[in-house]
Amino acid sequence: MSASVKTLALAGLASALFFLPPAGAAEADFQRIQNTIFTPLCVSCHSGLFAPHRLRLDERNSYRSLVGMQSAEVPAVQRVKSGDPDASYLIHKIEGHASEGVRMPASGPALSRQDIALIRRWIAGGAQFNEPAGK
Ligand code: HEC
Repeated sequence: MSASVKTLALAGLASALFFLPPAGAAEADFQRIQNTIFTPLCVSCHSGLFAPHRLRLDERNSYRSLVGMQSAEVPAVQRVKSGDPDASYLIHKIEGHASEGVRMPASGPALSRQDIALIRRWIAGGAQFNEPAGK
């Protein structure tokens, strides 16, 4: 390989790397959270008429049940306060330091650090809604 071809190849590689998200930092979009966390780990309890505190986390209801909504347990705190993960009750519950009740999910192990970080990034980024892919 000539020197210039090598340089070009390296430049191409460098720019490809530049555009990749950093390892472990999956894009924090709402549908990813729905599909990888809420649907598999929360909906078994948080859906339908008897959802605890009427917090429904199924795909049709989760966004509007969370963003800007008062927590039932600690009404002074919003479930998701857009832009402010530390002030969001959802974060208090999944990190296990809420002043009421138990750590979520109530059954089974705590969410992974990556899952919690994903939800934190989504809230910090403004808790935007995005349509499910293909709709
Ligand atoms: C085994 C059933 C069960 C599962 C699974 C579960 N929850 Fe809960 N959740 C409850 C119950 C019961 C309460 C009320 C009592 C308490 O907070 O301890 C609650 C309360 C909450 C609250 C407080 C709502 C408010 O308005 O104050 C949040 C937030 C929450 N859950 C989020 C989640 C999330 C997120 C998941 C999935 C990661 C999850 N829960 C999984 C049963 C469950």
